[in-house]
Amino acid sequence: MKILNNLKEGGEILKRNNISSYKIDCEILMSKTLNISREDVLLNLEKNLKKEEKEKYFNLINRRKKKEPIAYIINKKSFWRDNFITNKDVLIPRPDSEHLVEQTLKLIKKNQAKRILDVGVGSGCLSISILKERPYCKFDAIDPSESALKLAKTNANLHQLLHRIKFHKRDVDNFYYDKYDLIISNPPYINKHKIKYLGTINYEPKIALDGGVDGLEVIRKVISKSKHILKNNGKLILEIGYDQKYKVINFLKKKNFFINKIIKDYGNNIRCIVSTKIS
Ligand SMILES: C[S@@+](CC[C@H](N)C(=O)[O-])C[C@H]1O[C@@H](n2cnc3c(N)ncnc32)[C@H](O)[C@@H]1O
Repeated sequence: MKILNNLKEGGEILKRNNISSYKIDCEILMSKTLNISREDVLLNLEKNLKKEEKEKYFNLINRRKKKEPIAYIINKKSFWRDNFITNKDVLIPRPDSEHLVEQTLKLIKKNQAKRILDVGVGSGCLSISILKERPYCKFDAIDPSESALKLAKTNANLHQLLHRIKFHKRDVDNFYYDKYDLIISNPPYINKHKIKYLGTINYEPKIALDGGVDGLEVIRKVISKSKHILKNNGKLILEIGYDQKYKVINFLKKKNFFINKIIKDYGNNIRCIVSTKIS
Protein backbone atom coordinates (compact mmCIF):
# COMPACT_ATOMS: atom_id res chain seq x y z
CA MET A 1 0.00 0.00 0.00
CA LYS A 2 1.19 3.53 -0.81
CA ILE A 3 2.57 5.93 1.82
CA LEU A 4 -0.41 8.21 1.14
CA ASN A 5 -2.93 5.48 2.01
CA ASN A 6 -1.03 4.51 5.14
CA LEU A 7 -1.04 8.15 6.25
CA LYS A 8 -4.79 8.30 5.71
CA GLU A 9 -5.41 5.03 7.56
CA GLY A 10 -3.19 6.06 10.48
CA GLY A 11 -4.94 9.45 10.54
CA GLU A 12 -8.36 7.79 10.81
CA ILE A 13 -7.18 5.72 13.80
CA LEU A 14 -5.79 8.78 15.62
CA LYS A 15 -8.84 10.89 14.77
CA ARG A 16 -11.14 8.21 16.23
CA ASN A 17 -9.04 8.42 19.39
CA ASN A 18 -9.49 12.19 19.65
CA ILE A 19 -5.97 13.17 18.69
CA SER A 20 -6.48 16.53 17.06
CA SER A 21 -2.94 16.72 15.64
CA TYR A 22 -3.53 13.42 13.77
CA LYS A 23 -2.37 14.64 10.37
CA ILE A 24 1.00 16.01 11.38
CA ASP A 25 1.50 13.16 13.88
CA CYS A 26 1.09 10.56 11.11
CA GLU A 27 3.61 12.37 8.93
CA ILE A 28 6.10 12.54 11.81
CA LEU A 29 5.61 8.86 12.63
CA MET A 30 6.04 7.93 8.96
CA SER A 31 9.26 9.95 8.83
CA LYS A 32 10.46 8.08 11.94
CA THR A 33 9.48 4.74 10.33
CA LEU A 34 11.37 5.40 7.12
CA ASN A 35 14.15 7.44 8.71
CA ILE A 36 13.63 10.29 6.27
CA SER A 37 12.50 13.91 6.78
CA ARG A 38 8.82 14.87 6.86
CA GLU A 39 9.35 16.79 3.62
CA ASP A 40 10.64 13.60 1.97
CA VAL A 41 7.58 11.71 3.22
CA LEU A 42 5.38 14.26 1.44
CA LEU A 43 7.48 14.04 -1.72
CA ASN A 44 7.12 10.25 -1.86
CA LEU A 45 3.40 9.77 -1.24
CA GLU A 46 3.02 7.36 -4.16
CA LYS A 47 5.80 5.04 -3.02
CA ASN A 48 4.77 1.65 -1.60
CA LEU A 49 5.70 0.63 1.95
CA LYS A 50 7.40 -2.71 2.56
CA LYS A 51 5.61 -5.13 4.90
CA GLU A 52 8.04 -4.52 7.78
CA GLU A 53 7.82 -0.71 7.31
CA LYS A 54 4.05 -0.89 7.51
CA GLU A 55 4.26 -2.96 10.68
CA LYS A 56 6.67 -0.50 12.27
CA TYR A 57 4.49 2.47 11.29
CA PHE A 58 1.29 1.01 12.74
CA ASN A 59 3.16 0.04 15.86
CA LEU A 60 4.02 3.72 16.34
CA ILE A 61 0.43 4.74 15.51
CA ASN A 62 -0.74 2.34 18.20
CA ARG A 63 1.49 4.00 20.79
CA ARG A 64 0.26 7.46 19.77
CA LYS A 65 -3.35 6.24 19.87
CA LYS A 66 -2.84 5.59 23.60
CA LYS A 67 -1.82 9.27 23.95
CA GLU A 68 1.90 8.67 24.33
CA PRO A 69 3.54 12.02 23.51
CA ILE A 70 5.19 12.21 20.09
CA ALA A 71 8.46 13.37 21.70
CA TYR A 72 8.73 10.03 23.56
CA ILE A 73 7.84 7.98 20.49
CA ILE A 74 10.43 9.63 18.26
CA ASN A 75 12.87 10.32 21.14
CA LYS A 76 13.37 13.88 20.02
CA LYS A 77 12.10 17.38 20.80
CA SER A 78 13.18 20.72 19.43
CA PHE A 79 13.81 23.46 21.98
CA TRP A 80 15.24 26.97 21.51
CA ARG A 81 17.60 26.46 18.53
CA ASP A 82 18.34 22.73 18.78
CA ASN A 83 17.02 19.19 19.01
CA PHE A 84 17.26 17.24 22.24
CA ILE A 85 16.99 13.51 22.84
CA THR A 86 14.01 12.79 25.06
CA ASN A 87 12.81 9.69 26.86
CA LYS A 88 10.42 8.78 29.66
CA ASP A 89 13.02 9.63 32.31
CA VAL A 90 12.70 13.36 31.69
CA LEU A 91 10.10 16.05 31.24
CA ILE A 92 9.59 16.87 27.57
CA PRO A 93 11.12 20.33 26.99
CA ARG A 94 8.30 22.89 26.78
CA PRO A 95 8.18 25.99 24.54
CA ASP A 96 7.19 28.03 27.61
CA SER A 97 10.54 27.23 29.24
CA GLU A 98 12.26 29.08 26.40
CA HIS A 99 11.30 32.27 28.31
CA LEU A 100 13.70 31.17 31.02
CA VAL A 101 16.49 30.78 28.45
CA GLU A 102 15.69 34.16 26.90
CA GLN A 103 15.66 35.97 30.25
CA THR A 104 18.92 34.35 31.35
CA LEU A 105 20.64 35.33 28.09
CA LYS A 106 19.51 38.93 28.61
CA LEU A 107 21.50 38.97 31.85
CA ILE A 108 24.79 37.75 30.36
CA LYS A 109 26.84 39.54 27.72
CA LYS A 110 28.32 37.40 24.92
CA ASN A 111 31.88 37.66 26.29
CA GLN A 112 31.10 37.18 29.99
CA ALA A 113 32.25 34.11 31.91
CA LYS A 114 29.53 33.40 34.48
CA ARG A 115 29.15 30.43 36.80
CA ILE A 116 25.61 29.15 36.60
CA LEU A 117 23.69 26.42 38.44
CA ASP A 118 20.75 24.56 36.85
CA VAL A 119 18.54 23.02 39.54
CA GLY A 120 16.59 20.07 38.10
CA VAL A 121 18.47 19.72 34.84
CA GLY A 122 16.18 17.04 33.32
CA SER A 123 17.03 16.63 29.63
CA GLY A 124 19.62 19.43 29.88
CA CYS A 125 17.70 21.64 27.44
CA LEU A 126 18.06 24.84 29.52
CA SER A 127 21.79 24.63 30.34
CA ILE A 128 22.77 23.42 26.88
CA SER A 129 20.76 26.14 25.09
CA ILE A 130 22.35 28.84 27.27
CA LEU A 131 25.89 27.46 26.94
CA LYS A 132 25.62 27.38 23.16
CA GLU A 133 24.87 31.12 23.16
CA ARG A 134 27.39 32.12 25.83
CA PRO A 135 30.73 30.46 25.04
CA TYR A 136 32.59 31.55 28.21
CA CYS A 137 30.02 30.41 30.79
CA LYS A 138 30.12 27.18 32.79
CA PHE A 139 27.34 25.22 34.45
CA ASP A 140 26.86 22.93 37.39
CA ALA A 141 23.70 20.89 36.92
CA ILE A 142 21.90 18.90 39.60
CA ASP A 143 19.09 16.40 39.59
CA PRO A 144 18.18 13.63 42.06
CA SER A 145 17.18 11.40 39.13
CA GLU A 146 20.05 9.20 37.98
CA SER A 147 18.32 8.40 34.70
CA ALA A 148 17.61 12.08 33.96
CA LEU A 149 21.29 12.90 34.55
CA LYS A 150 22.29 10.11 32.20
CA LEU A 151 20.16 11.58 29.42
CA ALA A 152 21.36 15.14 30.16
CA LYS A 153 24.95 13.90 29.76
CA THR A 154 24.03 12.26 26.46
CA ASN A 155 22.56 15.55 25.25
CA ALA A 156 25.59 17.52 26.48
CA ASN A 157 27.83 15.11 24.62
CA LEU A 158 25.72 15.41 21.48
CA HIS A 159 26.16 19.19 21.62
CA GLN A 160 29.87 18.86 22.50
CA LEU A 161 29.46 20.62 25.83
CA LEU A 162 30.46 17.93 28.31
CA HIS A 163 33.56 19.94 29.29
CA ARG A 164 31.43 22.94 30.31
CA ILE A 165 28.77 21.23 32.46
CA LYS A 166 29.48 19.34 35.64
CA PHE A 167 26.66 17.00 36.63
CA HIS A 168 25.79 16.16 40.25
CA LYS A 169 23.25 13.59 41.41
CA ARG A 170 21.78 15.68 44.19
CA ASP A 171 18.60 17.04 45.72
CA VAL A 172 18.79 20.84 45.92
CA ASP A 173 18.45 20.47 49.70
CA ASN A 174 21.87 18.95 50.15
CA PHE A 175 23.91 20.68 47.49
CA TYR A 176 26.88 22.80 48.59
CA TYR A 177 29.55 23.10 45.98
CA ASP A 178 30.28 26.65 44.88
CA LYS A 179 28.93 30.20 44.74
CA TYR A 180 27.09 31.17 41.59
CA ASP A 181 26.50 34.30 39.54
CA LEU A 182 23.16 32.94 38.38
CA ILE A 183 20.85 30.08 39.34
CA ILE A 184 18.18 28.86 36.93
CA SER A 185 15.47 26.38 37.72
CA ASN A 186 12.34 24.91 36.21
CA PRO A 187 11.45 22.81 39.27
CA PRO A 188 8.51 20.44 39.65
CA TYR A 189 5.63 22.72 40.60
CA ILE A 190 2.36 20.82 40.20
CA ASN A 191 0.20 20.23 43.27
CA LYS A 192 0.64 16.49 43.89
CA HIS A 193 -3.14 15.93 44.11
CA LYS A 194 -3.68 17.52 40.69
CA ILE A 195 -1.09 15.48 38.80
CA LYS A 196 -3.61 12.78 38.03
CA TYR A 197 -5.69 15.28 36.05
CA LEU A 198 -2.84 16.03 33.66
CA GLY A 199 -2.98 14.24 30.34
CA THR A 200 0.69 13.37 30.62
CA ILE A 201 0.44 11.40 33.86
CA ASN A 202 1.04 7.98 32.35
CA TYR A 203 4.16 9.05 30.58
CA GLU A 204 6.08 11.94 32.17
CA PRO A 205 8.09 11.15 35.32
CA LYS A 206 6.35 12.09 38.55
CA ILE A 207 9.58 13.45 40.04
CA ALA A 208 9.60 16.11 37.29
CA LEU A 209 6.06 17.27 38.12
CA ASP A 210 5.40 16.71 41.82
CA GLY A 211 5.69 19.95 43.79
CA GLY A 212 4.17 18.48 46.98
CA VAL A 213 0.82 19.29 48.59
CA ASP A 214 0.72 22.94 47.49
CA GLY A 215 2.96 22.62 44.43
CA LEU A 216 5.54 24.91 46.01
CA GLU A 217 7.70 22.50 48.00
CA VAL A 218 10.64 22.35 45.59
CA ILE A 219 10.33 26.03 44.58
CA ARG A 220 10.71 27.00 48.26
CA LYS A 221 13.75 24.71 48.56
CA VAL A 222 15.33 26.29 45.47
CA ILE A 223 14.79 29.82 46.80
CA SER A 224 16.08 28.98 50.29
CA LYS A 225 19.17 27.28 48.88
CA SER A 226 19.79 30.10 46.38
CA LYS A 227 19.97 32.57 49.25
CA HIS A 228 23.09 30.73 50.44
CA ILE A 229 24.83 29.76 47.22
CA LEU A 230 24.21 32.82 45.06
CA LYS A 231 26.82 35.55 45.15
CA ASN A 232 25.55 38.94 46.36
CA ASN A 233 23.61 40.56 43.52
CA GLY A 234 23.41 37.14 41.86
CA LYS A 235 20.28 36.41 39.86
CA LEU A 236 17.69 33.66 40.36
CA ILE A 237 15.61 32.86 37.27
CA LEU A 238 12.67 30.63 38.13
CA GLU A 239 9.88 29.04 36.14
CA ILE A 240 6.64 28.79 38.14
CA GLY A 241 3.06 27.55 37.74
CA TYR A 242 0.43 29.94 36.31
CA ASP A 243 -1.25 30.43 39.71
CA GLN A 244 1.83 30.64 41.93
CA LYS A 245 2.92 34.24 41.33
CA TYR A 246 1.86 35.84 44.65
CA LYS A 247 3.05 33.01 46.88
CA VAL A 248 6.43 32.79 45.12
CA ILE A 249 6.96 36.56 45.16
CA ASN A 250 6.12 36.72 48.87
CA PHE A 251 8.54 33.91 49.62
CA LEU A 252 11.29 35.55 47.54
CA LYS A 253 10.78 38.84 49.40
CA LYS A 254 10.83 37.04 52.74
CA LYS A 255 14.24 35.64 51.76
CA ASN A 256 15.42 39.13 50.79
CA PHE A 257 15.29 38.83 47.02
CA PHE A 258 14.48 41.85 44.89
CA ILE A 259 11.95 41.13 42.12
CA ASN A 260 13.32 42.35 38.80
CA LYS A 261 10.87 40.98 36.29
CA ILE A 262 7.75 38.88 35.95
CA ILE A 263 7.35 37.30 32.52
CA LYS A 264 4.21 35.94 30.91
CA ASP A 265 4.18 32.86 28.69
CA TYR A 266 2.61 32.40 25.23
CA GLY A 267 -0.74 31.70 26.93
CA ASN A 268 -0.53 35.02 28.84
CA ASN A 269 0.12 33.29 32.19
CA ILE A 270 2.86 34.40 34.58
CA ARG A 271 5.57 31.82 33.97
CA CYS A 272 8.98 33.17 34.90
CA ILE A 273 10.36 35.38 37.68
CA VAL A 274 13.77 37.06 37.60
CA SER A 275 15.03 38.16 41.02
CA THR A 276 18.25 39.35 42.68
CA LYS A 277 19.76 38.22 45.95
CA ILE A 278 20.34 41.43 47.89
CA SER A 279 22.21 40.24 50.96
C1 LIG B 1 10.02 20.27 35.49
S1 LIG B 1 11.45 19.25 35.31
C2 LIG B 1 12.51 20.36 34.41
C3 LIG B 1 13.53 19.68 33.54
C4 LIG B 1 14.32 20.62 32.62
N1 LIG B 1 15.11 21.55 33.39
C5 LIG B 1 13.38 21.38 31.70
O1 LIG B 1 13.21 22.58 31.89
O2 LIG B 1 12.82 20.76 30.78
C6 LIG B 1 12.08 19.28 36.96
C7 LIG B 1 13.35 18.51 37.20
O3 LIG B 1 13.71 18.71 38.58
C8 LIG B 1 14.17 17.50 39.14
N2 LIG B 1 13.94 17.56 40.61
C9 LIG B 1 12.86 17.13 41.30
N3 LIG B 1 13.02 17.34 42.62
C10 LIG B 1 14.23 17.96 42.75
C11 LIG B 1 14.96 18.43 43.87
N4 LIG B 1 14.48 18.32 45.12
N5 LIG B 1 16.18 18.99 43.67
C12 LIG B 1 16.68 19.10 42.41
N6 LIG B 1 16.03 18.67 41.32
C13 LIG B 1 14.81 18.12 41.48
C14 LIG B 1 13.38 16.42 38.43
O4 LIG B 1 14.03 15.18 38.49
C15 LIG B 1 13.27 17.00 37.02
O5 LIG B 1 14.31 16.55 36.19
